[in-house]
Amino acid sequence: MSKLLAVDVGYSQVKVVDDRGGKFLFPSFVDRSFSTGIKLGGGMDETVMTCGGICQGKSYVVGGNSSSSLNLAANFHGTPEWYALMCKAMFDHLGSMGGKVTDTQLEYLGIGVPLDQRKNEKVKEMEQFNFFEFSVDGTPYTARADKVVVFPQGMAMLQEIDFHEDEEIGLIDIGYKTLDVMVLDGGSLVSDSYTSLSFGVKDVLGKIKDQFKAKTGATLSDRRAQKLLRTKKQTYGRETISMAKEVKEITEGYWNNLLKEIRPFWGEIEMLDRIVVGGGGAVLLGDIFKSKLAGNIQVEIMDDPVFGNVTGYMKSLHSLAGE
Ligand SMILES: Nc1ncnc2c1ncn2[C@@H]1O[C@H](COP(=O)(O)OP(=O)(O)OP(=O)(O)O)[C@@H](O)[C@H]1O
Ligand SMILES: [Mg+2]
Repeated sequence: MSKLLAVDVGYSQVKVVDDRGGKFLFPSFVDRSFSTGIKLGGGMDETVMTCGGICQGKSYVVGGNSSSSLNLAANFHGTPEWYALMCKAMFDHLGSMGGKVTDTQLEYLGIGVPLDQRKNEKVKEMEQFNFFEFSVDGTPYTARADKVVVFPQGMAMLQEIDFHEDEEIGLIDIGYKTLDVMVLDGGSLVSDSYTSLSFGVKDVLGKIKDQFKAKTGATLSDRRAQKLLRTKKQTYGRETISMAKEVKEITEGYWNNLLKEIRPFWGEIEMLDRIVVGGGGAVLLGDIFKSKLAGNIQVEIMDDPVFGNVTGYMKSLHSLAGE
């Protein structure tokens, strides 16, 4: 049994790690299900669950495949949808223990909130979520935690970076919807240097979809837009639509815009010792950023950018638990 569990509920995927080396993710898809438990769609990993707590016994389809459209509202942390995603994280965690484990008692549960929501009241509200109850196929499950620790997204990644005492690092967490940016001086958050901007990968994918539609009249899914970003082409009918020029313009435009938005918070970015980029967006867009700033400033992509936050939460939980 794990004593520590960390869950990073993002707008596009939920990342989970435990203290036994367990690590997994699933899409942040939640939909109200029929109480008969009929599955909507044919995703492999979706779970039909009836959730207690603030969900008040409502049924949801949670998880789903990557072609499900993501539908989370802004500020969804602490809402019934968030609770349902947490229940799914607990369900898969219990399943990873093998056998028929239906209950767990954790010492510490680590969860996150976007950096700009790290207000006292919000943190206090989120700390109350120490009990998750749900049922799947008629079997009840529970997960309790002695203590819930709420971490600021993005900042938790610092745990995964080696830095010097005097080093000033710009940290960027590129998520699906949110982009958290901050400056850390010798490991401490510099006041006024941080914000959550609402343009993550979704913004880039949206522009690619628009351009593709303008060229062909057809609509791309998130999945195809993401692939197009990598391959710069898409088959349409008997044609191969090349989008190399558009992808270059869109991604460069994204980084120019980002640098413009960051400047009021970071000042002269050239004065930073280095910039570290994490989040799933770093996998998709990090290289372009690196080449754009090459020669001006040192830019690094984290080793495991997608799990950067959640493994950061886990490191902090280990120290809280005195390990
Ligand atoms: N392994 C990967 N390869 C390529 N692209 C990826 C990968 N993982 C994630 N992405 C892309 O990066 C995006 C952001 O992923 P991430 O897990 O950081 O988002 P999130 O935490 O759910 O979003 P937010 O931080 O806005 O809540 C995904 O929507 C996807 O487009
Ligand atoms: Mg995220």
